[in-house]
Amino acid sequence: MRSVTQIVRTAAGHRVMGLYASPRDPNWAELMEAFDNLMEWLFRCLKLPPGLLDHRRGRYATIGVGYGFGGGRRRPGSYVNSAHNARLLQQALGSPVIHRIARYVDQGLLALFPALHSLCTNLDRSVVDVDNPEIQRSFQNCCYPACHFNLHSSSTAYHSDYWNYIGGMCAIVSGGKFDCKRSAHFIAWSLGLAFEFPPGTAIFVPSAAVPHSNTPLAKHERRHSLAFFLPAGLVRWYHNGFRSDKEFRDLAAPSELQAWLDYRKNLGEVALDLLQDTSTGS
Ligand SMILES: [Fe+2]
Repeated sequence: MRSVTQIVRTAAGHRVMGLYASPRDPNWAELMEAFDNLMEWLFRCLKLPPGLLDHRRGRYATIGVGYGFGGGRRRPGSYVNSAHNARLLQQALGSPVIHRIARYVDQGLLALFPALHSLCTNLDRSVVDVDNPEIQRSFQNCCYPACHFNLHSSSTAYHSDYWNYIGGMCAIVSGGKFDCKRSAHFIAWSLGLAFEFPPGTAIFVPSAAVPHSNTPLAKHERRHSLAFFLPAGLVRWYHNGFRSDKEFRDLAAPSELQAWLDYRKNLGEVALDLLQDTSTGS
């Protein structure tokens, strides 16, 4: 099936969503077959606690990789998984399949949302290379710091990803064996939009700002997704000059603190600036 690349714009000229077609790569179908096998292998072999099988985003197996900041951490660091699961995830992350998909997502963000790609790339280089060189990136040639692996029956319930950066675009790559004409459509509720979401394609969505879900899968179908994201805590750490909000407030001079508070009041405007359409292309 031929997939399309399409940008959703508001009347005010903001790019608020993107559909990203499969690359023109003769090996892409074969690669997605390998992706399905790899995700099924992970699904069978991971040992997940109940909270990662039935959660607020739906009833399917999910596990995170990458790095973030928040949840009691004192500084950015890698997400922690059990030794058993970490070994399996490391094996999956080392596969050429995941390398290729991560590169595809990076290219998609660059093509559709170049300002966000710059933000992600600069943040990743600064937070890891300058500030936390002990962090092992999960992906090479991809600016996203983190990703959820959603396995086997990945069809989400209505939710927003409120821990992601409000102005960021989550990149979701779909795979598996299902009929995309009838199952797993992507619904962006506050935009009033629904899309078919074929395996081997990606959707970019501001997942913190726009509630979203999928239509259900049939019993015999299976679907996996990789959801790449930019944690909001990392953006705060980066903008604070490698400090938490509390450390920033404690150390800032009065004028610096006032400028910081004013900036935070206008975060919605900052986010919209990143989505402003400056091109004439589609
Ligand atoms: Fe989500």
